[in-house]
Amino acid sequence: MAHPSPIKPALGRSAFVTGGAQGIGRAISCRLARDGYDVSIADIPPQKEKAQEVIKEIESYGRRAIFVTVDVRDAKQIEAAIAETVEKLGPNLFVSVANAGVTQVRPLLECTPEFIENEVRINVLGFMNTHIYAAKQMVKQGFGGRILGAGSIASYRTAENLSPYGATKFAVRGFTEASAKEWAQYGIRVNAYGPGIVDTPMWDHIDAELAKIENISIGEAKAQRVKREVKLGRIQEPEDVAKLVSFLASEEGEYITGQTIKTCGDSQGYRRSKSIPNIAIASILANEYADCRKLLHIRPGNAVNQKWGEMEPPYSA
Ligand SMILES: NC(=O)c1ccc[n+]([C@@H]2O[C@H](COP(=O)([O-])OP(=O)(O)OC[C@H]3O[C@@H](n4cnc5c(N)ncnc54)[C@H](O)[C@@H]3O)[C@@H](O)[C@H]2O)c1
Repeated sequence: MAHPSPIKPALGRSAFVTGGAQGIGRAISCRLARDGYDVSIADIPPQKEKAQEVIKEIESYGRRAIFVTVDVRDAKQIEAAIAETVEKLGPNLFVSVANAGVTQVRPLLECTPEFIENEVRINVLGFMNTHIYAAKQMVKQGFGGRILGAGSIASYRTAENLSPYGATKFAVRGFTEASAKEWAQYGIRVNAYGPGIVDTPMWDHIDAELAKIENISIGEAKAQRVKREVKLGRIQEPEDVAKLVSFLASEEGEYITGQTIKTCGDSQGYRRSKSIPNIAIASILANEYADCRKLLHIRPGNAVNQKWGEMEPPYSA
């Protein structure tokens, strides 16, 4: 299958992508393979079968691909996954993409400490540690590299019922900026991509949870938000995100570092209409505050301290 790429190929170099088995990570893995990279797909063990499909696609482009297991909540596993990547694909790691992430949708007053901790461990600690171990390898190799990570429009504007998620994506933006300053001296560029509403299993999950909270049917929350908020008028495809990653990884992206770049079809990021008057905002807040009483009666079955295997991947806590 021929997929011509406008970007200078990267033959002989490899890329490491966490959460590469599905959604945006899958699209990034395939796109980087089309750009010439051998790819290490790092994901949790239950994703092995999906990863095999990605490997097949990458091999059809004439590149090598491997699956390495990693739970990014554990720094030692990240270190081991990068070591395995270098052992199998060679000491030529040029791109690392800290893409793995989860979104858990819940009003703040229903969030347990375990719920928040899980999201922070994956989206913040997993993200930072992936960057650090990738950078250590790149510094050792001595020819620079591109370190990329999953931000979001939520890195700029948060949304109700997604508060811990928004906070983690703000952290992505901060760490991207700071680490870019430290690692510029090694020829490493650090940037993040900030998608909007992307058609992946993650958004199916958000949609299903919002449907419960807003008492609407499955599919409605996603459709409404795309219609109301995305100026380009269509949902984003994972490949739209992969195009930006491809650019940032390429020679063309050489002078860009420390940035969290939105790729969201000018999505307004869950924002209510600009023209809404302050008095209306006050009234919305007042209504939400009144709801707090209801929220304090935390619904049964809402505990989020499940162990691996008790929930469908990737939303296990
Ligand atoms: N889908 C969107 O609309 C959207 C928008 C903005 C940002 N993002 C971000 O992009 C990234 C990818 O999102 P997606 O929509 O493809 O999500 P997804 O849920 O479809 O895929 C996430 C991948 O991460 C893996 N993962 C989850 N927990 C992990 C862990 N502990 N260790 C290793 N891997 C783990 C999953 O197995 C899965 O393969 C996330 O960081 C997300 O926050 C997504």
